[in-house]
Amino acid sequence: MSTAAERLQLPFERPNILDIAPLYEVLRRAAPVTPVTTPAGDPAWLVTRYDEVRALLGDKRLGRSHPEPERASRITTAAVQDGPTGSYETEEADHARMRRLLTPAFSAKRMRMLSDHVQELVDGYLDRLIAEHDAAPDGVVDLHAGLAFPLPVAVICRLLGVPESDRELFHSLSERMASPSADGEAHRAREEFSRYMAGLAEAKRGALGEDVISDLVRAQSTDETFDYAEMVRLCVGLLFAGHETTVNRIGLGVLFLMTRPEQWAALTADTGRVDATVEEIMRLGAPGDLGLLRYAHTDLDVGGVEIRAGDAVILSVNAANRDESAYADAETFDPDRAERTHLGFGHGAHFCIGASLARTELRIVFATLARRLPGMRLAEDADELPVRPTITGGVSELPVTW
Ligand code: HEM
Repeated sequence: MSTAAERLQLPFERPNILDIAPLYEVLRRAAPVTPVTTPAGDPAWLVTRYDEVRALLGDKRLGRSHPEPERASRITTAAVQDGPTGSYETEEADHARMRRLLTPAFSAKRMRMLSDHVQELVDGYLDRLIAEHDAAPDGVVDLHAGLAFPLPVAVICRLLGVPESDRELFHSLSERMASPSADGEAHRAREEFSRYMAGLAEAKRGALGEDVISDLVRAQSTDETFDYAEMVRLCVGLLFAGHETTVNRIGLGVLFLMTRPEQWAALTADTGRVDATVEEIMRLGAPGDLGLLRYAHTDLDVGGVEIRAGDAVILSVNAANRDESAYADAETFDPDRAERTHLGFGHGAHFCIGASLARTELRIVFATLARRLPGMRLAEDADELPVRPTITGGVSELPVTW
């Protein structure tokens, strides 16, 4: 790898949440891979071109675990990002098991059941926001606090089988587990979460239902090696994979549409456009600047650059989805575009297992907003909105009015 002096530091500085394209454009033109330093101070390769990102996501010579775990670089110092360690074989076996255990949770039948619940939830949040709007002197409400933030965790509660009466508790435990503070708060919350999940699994034993915890209790009855620790790991994994990602796609989607009145008008006139609109939100609002972290398990050549076994490789889905060689007028938000192969849910073996659920949530959110609040607009300049300090990108406030 090249010297530290030539390396770009991640995350990239940028003036606002909607303005990252020019830098990616420069990087894609310059080279197939860019030497960077991760936020934790480690060297890595950043891949920004569509063809290479897609090919490497499907390439078995790269894995999520480091071939020598103690040498693994970290993409971030955040507590929630402690990725897998161990050999590639262990990684593959664990991964196959994870997918097998979680697959029933995302069946078409479960998605139909969840979809009615998502609609109920969205209508409930909007009823409250409309009442708040009518009572507020300036008519401004925060769509982040009132809809984007609480919805995904409420949906994950239903997916897992957490009773509605425990939703507040679950919500606060999940926030505390993701807390970046160094005082052991995240660790304590995880212990409480483990006890809570074990209690819930016990309580369900007599009356198993159509939810993840019931699925895992069923798995336990046929697989002695499966224990509560693994159950907790899988549930925490779903929470971290499915919460922030969805919160931020709702927020970015609202920003994209509010800053493009003609697109919002088209959607309010015809909510049949919602599926294509959501795909375009997923393309241009793909998860964060940091991208997906992999390690090379053998030496490999990427566009003429030699990557050595053990090197960290960051696949920038966000840059790939904005590549002019894959998308005509890539920066234009255009739900009518013909290309439909964005990498916003990843690609290959790790393709997002929750993609159908995320799509369901996003479609219901945007169709319902378009139907019920067609006159909605941002109450502040999009450039002024505070950016969330998370790796998946997004805003922490979304003041709107109508
Ligand atoms: C994997 C994006 C929602 C569960 C992924 C990956 C991406 C992604 C890019 C691939 C990661 C990689 O290759 O390293 C998103 C986005 C979402 C979303 C943008 C929201 C719009 C969800 C939801 C759930 C979920 C709602 C479940 C409740 C998972 C899991 C994986 C995953 C378990 C790991 C799959 C594997 O390693 O085989 N997601 N996701 N995601 N996602 Fe999602």
